[in-house]
Amino acid sequence: MKSDYSNIYSFNKKTLTKTLRYLNKGEIAGLPTETVYGLAGNAYSSKAVKKIFGLKKRPKKNPLIIHYYNINSIKKDVIISKNFVKLYKKFCPGPLTFILKKSKNSKIVKKATAGLKTIAIRFPSHKIIRSILKYSNFPLAMPSANISTRLSPVNAIDVFEDFGKKINIIIDGGKSKIGIESTVIDLTGKPKILRPGVLGYHDFKKILKVNSFKKSKLIKSPGMLEKHYSPGIPIILNKNPKNKSDAHVIFGNKFKGKKNKFNLSKKANLNEAASNLYKTLRDIKNKGYKKIYVSKIPNTGAGTAINDRLRKAAK
Ligand code: TXA
Ligand code: MG
Repeated sequence: MKSDYSNIYSFNKKTLTKTLRYLNKGEIAGLPTETVYGLAGNAYSSKAVKKIFGLKKRPKKNPLIIHYYNINSIKKDVIISKNFVKLYKKFCPGPLTFILKKSKNSKIVKKATAGLKTIAIRFPSHKIIRSILKYSNFPLAMPSANISTRLSPVNAIDVFEDFGKKINIIIDGGKSKIGIESTVIDLTGKPKILRPGVLGYHDFKKILKVNSFKKSKLIKSPGMLEKHYSPGIPIILNKNPKNKSDAHVIFGNKFKGKKNKFNLSKKANLNEAASNLYKTLRDIKNKGYKKIYVSKIPNTGAGTAINDRLRKAAK
């Protein structure tokens, strides 16, 4: 059966207005960011936030990231700290999410932050999401646009795969360049990385003292525990398949050709591999493979984020 993609739109003045109109009414939009596509709703609207949780089948205890245009727009919702300003100046807009203390007068719907006293905020850099944030007079609660536990979307059509016509509008902003979710850093105490991403310890250590996520035992991010990022078929890590009917995800140029081989980066570039990860797993699933074997991927730089996602997908 052919799908009717009539709720996927390209971006222009008209669809910007259309998107803003939906968001203003408390409706949900599928929007591109540089990391992954998001399921966006007005973070000041309980109707919108409720819809996001419902559509994603997301556990209520798992808080959402709130997205802003720039530092001026966060002041009423969060308490700004020195470390935050340092990192903001260096990396924003970009693939970095900050956990900060929520301010008393914050208008963010309580359910969006799962009742916590902290709030996750991000300033995405993708042109399209930036213009939407610029012209909306509220921040956007925006988790990755996938049903809970499934693969995150890096193309408009991936969003459609999970939600179809349940959302009124999906904006096509091309393939998400980074291809993996933002790094989450907790700045409410001693800085701590809660979710690895393409930015990591090595980028932060010149600017502030950070405990690498590996060294921290405490898991403070509610969404870090569950099975996640799953393509829906078994994933076996650090092993080569015996059978050619199983898919084999590889990295670098050690392995030659063969139909069942899916190379994340022939140049052995970890950022390129991160960018290809979800797309590759989705392609494999859609080609009808029943099992995925993944060769070892170096655990440095973006590799820590790739291995984190693979471990959770393999659970
Ligand atoms: O790249 C991204 O961050 C994407 C794009 C769309 O911006 N969004 C995203 O959202 O990945 P989501 O909901 O899929 O993941 C948010 C993560 C979850 O693991 C959640 O538990 C954590 O951030 N989080 C949110 N608020 C938190 C808080 N107050 N304290 C600790 N962790 C929090
Ligand atoms: Mg997610």
